[in-house]
Amino acid sequence: MTSLAHHPVLITGGAGYIGSHAMLALLDNGREAVVVDDLSTGRRGAVPAGVPFYEGKIADNALIGRIIREHGCRAVMHFAGSIVVPESVEKPLEYYQNNVAGSAALLRACLDNGIERFVFSSTAAVYDGAGDKPVSEDGVLAPANPYGRSKLMTEWMLRDIAAATDLRVAVLRYFNVAGADGAGRSGQYAKAATHLIKRACQTVLGQHPRMDIFGDDYHTPDGTCMRDYIHVSDLAQAHLAVLDHIGERAEYVTMNCGYGHGYSVTQVLDVVDQVAGEMLDAEPMRRRHGPRRAGDAASLVADTGRIRQILNWQPKYDDLAVMAATALAWEKKLMDGLD
Ligand code: UFG
Repeated sequence: MTSLAHHPVLITGGAGYIGSHAMLALLDNGREAVVVDDLSTGRRGAVPAGVPFYEGKIADNALIGRIIREHGCRAVMHFAGSIVVPESVEKPLEYYQNNVAGSAALLRACLDNGIERFVFSSTAAVYDGAGDKPVSEDGVLAPANPYGRSKLMTEWMLRDIAAATDLRVAVLRYFNVAGADGAGRSGQYAKAATHLIKRACQTVLGQHPRMDIFGDDYHTPDGTCMRDYIHVSDLAQAHLAVLDHIGERAEYVTMNCGYGHGYSVTQVLDVVDQVAGEMLDAEPMRRRHGPRRAGDAASLVADTGRIRQILNWQPKYDDLAVMAATALAWEKKLMDGLD
């Protein structure tokens, strides 16, 4: 296996939320990166000067092949994709096209150009979300929406390719990623984001009149959905560790990325209110209880045994208040004008 010391890692979606944090983690650890991103939701400014950047699609076989050859890449971290659950319910074909067909085209270019390691952004949305216990990697795979299905289909494709070729693959199933880089270098950018913590931060900053709570009649302690929120910088660190792991030891590995404890929508909003009160002297947000949102699972909490044991992964930001504070600082920065 080639050492990655002098081979930059190709990051698809490296101008986006999670991809940009993984890129920063690589750079902070003395590694090199090359980014390809179509800027549909990403931000050019998230990629520092000095990191080669290509605006383009993962389905553009010629472009991807050329980047891999020119930079001598041997590893890919694949983040590019469509990620909004409710949007996937409305526009399923876009999700299968971007996420499944796009990944297939990317993999063709990888196999044809000597890529040896591949880390894939998957999701907790591949699980059925029906149980109230933390779900392990062997949990029931029954996605509740087209987004989750598009990710699971890509996982299956990767498993078959890993079995048939020398490509080594890590599939990371993210739970609910939140927060922003502690130094303020990146964060969740897409203005129309629907994610709970980002939306709550925008609300306390006065960008929305109120926060809608989507359903309070679930089988959960307070009736609202439970999720396992993980800080994006801890997640980025897991990518580095798993890249080394598949280089040295494993041919194919699937890992949950979460902390192993769930918070309800109400608990999250309470923490955002508290943090915003302390940081900005903000008033608590107005809340409105509404109907369930299509495609939402009641509860998704990670069993984190595998990642902790295999990667010896020791998260640093397992604290909802830290996630809320970094997300809020980032949102404020966006409001004040970034570039
Ligand atoms: N929610 C609200 N009001 C809002 C926004 C969200 O009540 O304005 C609720 C949702 O209904 C859900 C919870 O907050 O119960 C979390 O919703 P998000 O939209 O923040 O995140 P999702 O759980 O839908 O999805 C996210 C990622 C997926 C990932 C999944 C894994 O977008 O990529 O977490 O748990 F698969």
